Amino acid sequence: MKRVLTGLQPTGVITLGNYIGAIRQMKVYQNEYDSFLFVADLHSITIPQEPDELRENIKSLIAIYIACGIDPDKNTIYIQSENPYIPAVSWLLECNTYYGELSRMTQFKDKSLKHTNFTSGLLTYPVLMAADIIGVDTDYVPVGIDQKQHVELARDIAERFNKKYGDTFVMPEPLIAKEGTKIMDLQNPTVKMSKSAENKKGVICVLEDLNLVRKKIMSATTDSDMLIKFDPENKPGISNLINIYISLTGETVEEVEKKFDGANYGTFKKEVADVVVNELSGIQERYKTIVGSDYIEDILNKGRDRTTELFKQKYEVMKQKIGLGR
Ligand code: AMP
Ligand code: TRP
Repeated sequence: MKRVLTGLQPTGVITLGNYIGAIRQMKVYQNEYDSFLFVADLHSITIPQEPDELRENIKSLIAIYIACGIDPDKNTIYIQSENPYIPAVSWLLECNTYYGELSRMTQFKDKSLKHTNFTSGLLTYPVLMAADIIGVDTDYVPVGIDQKQHVELARDIAERFNKKYGDTFVMPEPLIAKEGTKIMDLQNPTVKMSKSAENKKGVICVLEDLNLVRKKIMSATTDSDMLIKFDPENKPGISNLINIYISLTGETVEEVEKKFDGANYGTFKKEVADVVVNELSGIQERYKTIVGSDYIEDILNKGRDRTTELFKQKYEVMKQKIGLGR
């Protein structure tokens, strides 16, 4: 069975964008592939984190995954730092990666400009990501467009290692969400809805108060021509609301345009708000019963054990090929 794998960093809140763009994709793949979903906590410390907050965010993200419909029976769910072989594999890959490749990564260039005194972890971050991916012979990696370059680097590293030492890794492929699943900021619909946005009025969080969610949708930026039509270029606000609506209801753009033909924006926004609030209220209910429960402990132990075994095997093969150890 083909393998699919992705991870999210436990940094702050999880947005409606993360849910629609990343977590819900995994809900589909879990029925077709051997699925791995993890919390990339080692990646998150490439930027300074407050320990207690980090611990809370890790626990919360696991509960969010499950509350969002990630089925623990169909997925291997784990915390990256609980598997000591991931950094071990990463080191062996680092010694097969060029400094030049890493310093050319767009995300590194952006982040290193934002922080004046950054660590070497920020530079080697994509190699750790490559280890996550190729260490378990992943076939498919669903990520946002911003991570595509990192998956391509993982392919380059895998190919190089395979050439040098003989077939060792499966070549992974990025799965980029369709245009339709990029959720934009409600206040500024030309930029992506992001947890780091300054104006929180444009961002919906999965665990947010539902009255506030409703208010944010009702006051989303739209245009003045009173036409419910999908046209991201000229009508980014309405198109974003249509996108959210179709992502959650499974209806098509044409169906929505027809259904709301002649309706005013207030009516449409109220419908969108109902759909979002309904979806989030289910998630929030489940979240409350899951967070901090023993149920999660068992799932994480299983995930840790399975992936540790897989990474250990890969590490031993790599060591042997490279000529390390006894
Ligand atoms: P980030 O929160 O940027 O670390 O992203 C975690 C995952 O969620 C990545 O796979 C992103 O592509 C996805 N994601 C983040 N924001 C959005 C958004 N506004 N719309 C769709 N997908 C998103
Ligand atoms: N770097 C990814 C992000 O910031 C998270 C991540 C870490 C990841 N390892 C991964 C995603 C492996 C996919 C596969 O969103």
